[in-house]
Order: sequence, then C-alpha cells, then structure tokens
Amino acid sequence: MKTLICIFIAYFGLSSAETIPELAEKLNGLKFIRLLDDVGLTDMLSGTGPFTVFVPTDNAFDALADGVLNKIMKDKELLKSVLLFHILSWKIYTKELKNEKRIPTLNNNMKVRINLYNKKIVIDGSKVLLADQNATNGVIHVIDKVLVPLPSQNMLQYLASDGEFYKFVHSFVKVKLERKLIDGPFTLFAPTDTAFDQFPPYLLIKLVSDDKKLTDALNYHLVKGTLFFDEWNGTTNSRRQIFKYHNESR
Ligand SMILES: *[C@@H]1O[C@H](CO)[C@@H](O)[C@H](O)[C@H]1NC(C)=O
Ligand SMILES: *[C@@H]1O[C@H](CO)[C@@H](O)[C@H](O)[C@H]1NC(C)=O
Repeated sequence: MKTLICIFIAYFGLSSAETIPELAEKLNGLKFIRLLDDVGLTDMLSGTGPFTVFVPTDNAFDALADGVLNKIMKDKELLKSVLLFHILSWKIYTKELKNEKRIPTLNNNMKVRINLYNKKIVIDGSKVLLADQNATNGVIHVIDKVLVPLPSQNMLQYLASDGEFYKFVHSFVKVKLERKLIDGPFTLFAPTDTAFDQFPPYLLIKLVSDDKKLTDALNYHLVKGTLFFDEWNGTTNSRRQIFKYHNESR
C-alpha cells in the first residue's frame, strides 16, 4: 500500500512538474519545440510565465503548403514572429474564451481571433484538438494548423489590393455601401471579376441601374460573424469565397 501511494505521488509529482516545452513535446508538438530551439525561445517558455501556448501538432507543420516551412525557417526573424504568434503572456483556459474576441499575442501584440462554433473552439481558423493542458508555467492548447500572422487589412483594403475584385468593390462604392466592408465582423462571399463577366448581361444592367436592387444583392454576399471555410459545409463550385475579416487595429 505504501509503495502504491509513493508511486501515485511520484506520478503526479512528475506530471505536474513539466514546463511548457516539456509538456508540448509529449503532446505531439515536437516540431514546434525544435523551431523554438532554433530561434532561442525555449528558455523563455521554460521560465516563470505564466504563458498560454497554442501548440500546432507535428501534422500541422507537415500540412503546410510546399515550401512555406522552408521559407519561414530560412528567415529567422519571420520564424520567430510566427512562433510568437502562438504565445500569450498570461494564462487563459478555453472556458474563458469568447466568440469573435481578438486577443494579443507576443508577436507585437498582433491578435488572434477566437471563434466558438457549437462545441468547437477555433483560433484564427485553427481547431483546438486538446484543450487546457496544464504545465508548471502555463497552459497549452493543441491546435490542428500553424497560425500565420496575416497583414492587418480590412475587407475593403484586401479586395482592393487583390486585383480580382474590381467590379465587386466598385459596386459597393456605387451604392455607398463600402462602410460595410470596413465594419465587422462579417464573412464575405466575394465574386471575382470573372464571375461578374459570366453573369447574364441584361440582368447585370438591370441590377447596376437600380441602387436598391444592387444594395440588396450586395448585402446578400455578407454574412454576420467570422465563418471559416472549414466551419462552412455548404456546397459550391466556386473558389475563394470566404475571407477572414481583419479590421480592428492591432
Ligand atoms: C488544468 O487546470 C485547470 C484549472 O485548475 C482545470 O480546470 C483543468 O481541468 C486542468 N486541465 C486538465 C487537462 O486537467
Ligand atoms: C453541416 O454541419 C452540420 C452541423 O455540424 C451537420 O449537421 C450537417 O450534416 C453538415 N452537412 C454536410 C453536408 O456535411
């Protein structure tokens, strides 16, 4: 009996004595930890904290598009900023997370967006696979995708800089609805110029010559809230319809 109690204490003593890097390694986050090592961030994450760390699984790194990881790894400053984007300087459990809340990371306070869908928790589009894992100096939430700091553009800026949405943006401006592309959060289904070209011309003329009809049609492309592609399971043939909305200043 005595031995049993000793083993019991030893087991729990050991498991609760793990720092964030030690625990992350056990939780399928070996690649994340190796990269932290590369840029000398492991010491910080072994320190007092407390921290919250969104740890992408090894699979998440494998799933990055061809060359992305190589590109990031070649540029140490970029790698560091990507990693810091996964770290918060305080401890937050998933039950404290609120839908559409944006929280500052150690990457220059650049924010990640929290979304709650049903029972799913999503951090900037990445799903939480394993939540609230306690380390001595903070908490780990394991996620299924690497978080990539995105440029802080609002929808209007994004569409304008893309070059494929001239007609769509122009329509918003025509009926003075462009404010809608700056406020948020919204999800936008954005037809490309090609999509406009494929629209029957007589219908398009009817639409653009009637501000009320055009306004209704444009509003029909906006859905309230942030809806990531993975969360949206309708069927469609078109590409590039859903945009994450980044507006609030960082
Ligand atoms: C971690 O600690 C918090 C707060 O004490 C607790 O709510 C949570 O259940 C713990 N996580 C696990 C996986 O035990
Ligand atoms: C879409 O998601 C809902 C809710 O999770 C589910 O009930 C439904 O079956 C899904 N539809 C498709 C086509 O996957």
